[in-house]
Amino acid sequence: MIKSQQDIFKTFQPKAAKKTVEVEIADLRKITEVVKNRYGYDFSDYAMSSFRRRIQRIIELFQFNSVGEVVVKLENDPSFIETFLAEVTVNVTEMFRDPSFWREVRDHIIPNILLNHDTFNIWHAGCSSGEEVMSMCILLKEMGILHKANIIATDIDKPILAKAKKGQVSVKNMDLNEKNYIRFQGQHSIQHYYEEKDGMAIIDPTLFAGVSYRNFDLVKGEVFNKFDLILCRNVMIYFNQNLQNKVLKKLHDSLFKYSYLAVGSKESLIWCEVANKFIIVNNEEKIYKKIKD
Ligand SMILES: C[S@@+](CC[C@H](N)C(=O)[O-])C[C@H]1O[C@@H](n2cnc3c(N)ncnc32)[C@H](O)[C@@H]1O
Repeated sequence: MIKSQQDIFKTFQPKAAKKTVEVEIADLRKITEVVKNRYGYDFSDYAMSSFRRRIQRIIELFQFNSVGEVVVKLENDPSFIETFLAEVTVNVTEMFRDPSFWREVRDHIIPNILLNHDTFNIWHAGCSSGEEVMSMCILLKEMGILHKANIIATDIDKPILAKAKKGQVSVKNMDLNEKNYIRFQGQHSIQHYYEEKDGMAIIDPTLFAGVSYRNFDLVKGEVFNKFDLILCRNVMIYFNQNLQNKVLKKLHDSLFKYSYLAVGSKESLIWCEVANKFIIVNNEEKIYKKIKD
């Protein structure tokens, strides 16, 4: 069939250029105010540059014409807050992310905790879709001590936490997870721990018997327990110094004396107010030990 000139024109017509909405600091303040006043989440101390990029992304994704429209949506549509939280937070994660970190946890940190305790508490603060928890459970299972661990996994983002609770990972992501697991030098192959169904890797649910999941906002949440090891990795990187100080104080108060805090490989306690209450145990892996109350 020969195409009419009009059809050809339609085929080659360029798409309308995407309208870029400028997001000023004052706009970000309007958004953080409405989110705080209406929903109780405080993003005012999130690092501005990445927060701005996330808002820009929301504007493009939902085709808002102005920041004002985002504000109106947040004011009038309470169901939008979950989507907003999911988009504004960064959920990227992997099983055995930074394999050398997991080797250090297995070879030094857990054995040290076991010197003084028969059972122990671990907190995954900002667990995202649960890959970090899966890694920890596999590691502890391979050490033969999974039954001794009480693990709590928390996140601000309810849908991502629901995903974590399911204990499933897209099969598409398992290649990278497997590569990390091999570098971690685990005892089996990663396939040992899951069954494949409908494009998902269903992680062995018996691994998670000692895990509880809880929606928890590190900004406004109160200290709720004491831990032997806290992993808060790649979370505070999105906070400004002021909020890092606030959250680190909470994490410090949540640790037993001589217990451990792990942050992300690009994070550090060096400039933080609590720095003198910790010593660095492994600088490469960013693992700290609380030495002062
Ligand atoms: C990049 S992921 C890190 C996941 C995992 N810890 C890792 O390193 O692979 C950051 C997580 O922190 C969570 N988060 C951001 N702000 C938070 C807050 N105020 N309270 C609790 N969790 C928060 C996000 O929802 C996201 O799931």
